[in-house]
Amino acid sequence: MQEILNIFDKYVVYLHAKLKHKLTNIGRKMKKTVLVTGANKGIGFGIAKHLGLSGWSVIIGARNEGRAEEAISKLKAEGVDVLGWVNIELADTKSLESAAKEVAEKYPTLNLLVNNAGIPGNMALEGRNTPLDDIRTTLDVNFVGTFALTKLFIPIIERNSGRIVNVTVPSEISPYWHPLAYVTSKAAQNAMMGVLAMEFQQKGTDIEIFSVHPGPTTTDLNGNMALPGFHDIETVGAKMAELLNDGKSHQGEFIELYPIVKED
Ligand SMILES: NC(=O)c1ccc[n+]([C@@H]2O[C@H](COP(=O)([O-])OP(=O)(O)OC[C@H]3O[C@@H](n4cnc5c(N)ncnc54)[C@H](OP(=O)(O)O)[C@@H]3O)[C@@H](O)[C@H]2O)c1
Repeated sequence: MQEILNIFDKYVVYLHAKLKHKLTNIGRKMKKTVLVTGANKGIGFGIAKHLGLSGWSVIIGARNEGRAEEAISKLKAEGVDVLGWVNIELADTKSLESAAKEVAEKYPTLNLLVNNAGIPGNMALEGRNTPLDDIRTTLDVNFVGTFALTKLFIPIIERNSGRIVNVTVPSEISPYWHPLAYVTSKAAQNAMMGVLAMEFQQKGTDIEIFSVHPGPTTTDLNGNMALPGFHDIETVGAKMAELLNDGKSHQGEFIELYPIVKED
């Protein structure tokens, strides 16, 4: 009888260890870790803050230590779990390679990349007067840099069945506002998202990629414009966090955070 009880005891210990292992793995899979590029200010800061307040552990993507540390202090003071910051300069491929290596080593559970960092180019010029240098610089950061970073992060995100989200503007040309370098770079970024989403779907790759247009937002990018229809980074950050936490699939979608309501 004692022998049977001993075997039973060992079996219970074995089952307990197995269950603990399983729960740890589930916990690891469910841990929500996000890297937001350009998170030291503007929309990126708002997204990092509100994802943090909704339970995500946050990694700040920035290209300057002082600016990153300042943002981290503010986020921590709000109660956000900031894991650290990673140097991401979209115009420098070497910095992107180091960032991907660092994140894979230090934060292997990363399951959300928000491609937010971007530049406006010269928004004051007519299309025909745009210097080639402005086109090149803006495309290099907003499209080439974002694509390079996305490429490098796909393996990490795929391992965690995660998502990549681009912060962008529509590809359609608006009659009211159409700075050539900026809209061209974003149209290229939008095409990149569409191609990758289609390939992920066709090949059954376990990653989701989609784009979000936050709508006009008062930030340094537009000289802190605050016209009617503009939102602040808190409102946009909170709405982005709500979208990213909605539990739905958005593969290949272009989502307007504030859809334009057509009046009759
Ligand atoms: N504001 C709007 O109305 C609006 C509307 C639609 C879409 N968006 C998009 O939203 C995103 C964020 O814009 P925002 O308005 O928040 O602009 P922002 O306040 O100027 O912030 C831009 C962020 O990107 C970073 N950044 C700039 N150049 C970079 C580079 N070469 N490498 C890495 N990071 C770089 C900046 O870092 P530093 O501080 O170091 O310069 C900053 O953290 C952009 O992709 C923009 O196109 C904005």
